[in-house]
Amino acid sequence: MNNSVKVKFQTLLAEKKPFLGTFIQSAAPEFVEAAGYAGFRFAAVDLEHTYYGVEKTAEMIRAGEAADMAMLARVPALDAIWIKKSLDLGASGIIVPNIDTAEQAAQAVRLCRFTPEGVRGACPGVRANRYGAGGPEYYDQSNRDVAVMALVESPEGVKNFDAIVRTPGLTAVFLGPVDLSVAMGLKGNIAAPEVQEALLDMIRRANAAGVPVGALGLDPGFARRLFAQGLTFLAYGIDTILMYQTCRNIMKSVFDGKESRMTNEVLKTLKERRSIRGYQPQQIAQEELDAILEAGTYAPSGMGKQPVTLVAVQDPETIAQLSRMNAQIMGTASDPFYGAPTVILVLADPERPTCVEDGALAMGNLMNAAASLGVGSCWIHRAREEFESPEGKALLKKWGLPENLRGVGHCVLGYAAAPAPAAAPRRAGDVVLV
Ligand SMILES: Cc1cc2nc3c(=O)[nH]c(=O)nc-3n(C[C@H](O)[C@H](O)[C@H](O)COP(=O)(O)O)c2cc1C
Repeated sequence: MNNSVKVKFQTLLAEKKPFLGTFIQSAAPEFVEAAGYAGFRFAAVDLEHTYYGVEKTAEMIRAGEAADMAMLARVPALDAIWIKKSLDLGASGIIVPNIDTAEQAAQAVRLCRFTPEGVRGACPGVRANRYGAGGPEYYDQSNRDVAVMALVESPEGVKNFDAIVRTPGLTAVFLGPVDLSVAMGLKGNIAAPEVQEALLDMIRRANAAGVPVGALGLDPGFARRLFAQGLTFLAYGIDTILMYQTCRNIMKSVFDGKESRMTNEVLKTLKERRSIRGYQPQQIAQEELDAILEAGTYAPSGMGKQPVTLVAVQDPETIAQLSRMNAQIMGTASDPFYGAPTVILVLADPERPTCVEDGALAMGNLMNAAASLGVGSCWIHRAREEFESPEGKALLKKWGLPENLRGVGHCVLGYAAAPAPAAAPRRAGDVVLV
């Protein structure tokens, strides 16, 4: 051996069996070794998206060699200096990002090879040459051994793929699905059919040209699919993402998927409150009702005008009357309150332009406060029609309230007759981050 490279990436390719590695972005040689001990065959030190430079790269390469891995450097750009320094440190291959044309691929090859094949600057005292121990054969051997990879990650690169892949001296092509998806307007969705189709097409074309082809992958299904289509090697994830995913999976398995970082009781109640549609006849405790009503009065309101009036009804006769009125509006004969022993009417001053929104927020506070106390609740609608009717207005008059109050909703309360059903799955795409 005339150079310091213990495991050559080219040797892995020569095995002609699919293999895995990863990208390393942490400045942590320990992660390189850990990946190697887990069976990953290579690691690519990422110099494009990290803050560290060649000093750390040297440590990473030594760590990789300790764990029998082939070490690559993903340089920040098609740049003679980064490529030269990385190779001098003993990287067994270079991944050059953003290769869009065959000319760029040819330049990558030239920068990685000594004359006559290229223009790589020579120095006998570098680590790759074992500080001079390698002898004159070092130059030819390096030219044979160093793997040069073109990272194709743009629609232009896809367009010029056939020419790129046939660049003389290029060892392999590496597909960058994340950048490609972003360039296609798909924001990192590497599972999108357009991205998948582009990847599979490039794999087919690389296979047809007899050139090894690798890719970045972020999940096992994706990796298996690409390997099945002829991918040669895959960089599975990035150490930072792997750490995140591992921690997240641990959280899920330890807490059965219910816990997240947001573990406070309010958030738990907001998520776990459900509409209850069957009640025990037993009345709720007075202190529970008081606390629920108080929470209702603390809801936000437009300009802080507090236009909401809460009427707590526990008198069975009045509840029966409201139930009958509501059922009539709905056109049914059944009890719309599901036998709840308490009904809180939420009414609002129609002079306030935000009266309905204010009432709805009060309803939310009531229902969530109830849930936090273990009291069941449900929003029952049609309060507006109820209090637009002469019978409703007569009730308002009887209670000493303005007859023009607008009905927003009924919050029925009681102890649930049966456990609440699970929440429906949340609608896909109901949160958009801009
Ligand atoms: C404006 C509004 C009106 C509603 N009206 C009724 C109703 O009249 N009867 C009823 O059983 N549930 C009613 N609900 C409850 C919803 O059906 C319930 O919130 C929805 O099915 C989701 O279930 P969850 O509350 O358990 O998450 C109403 C909810 C809202 C927000």
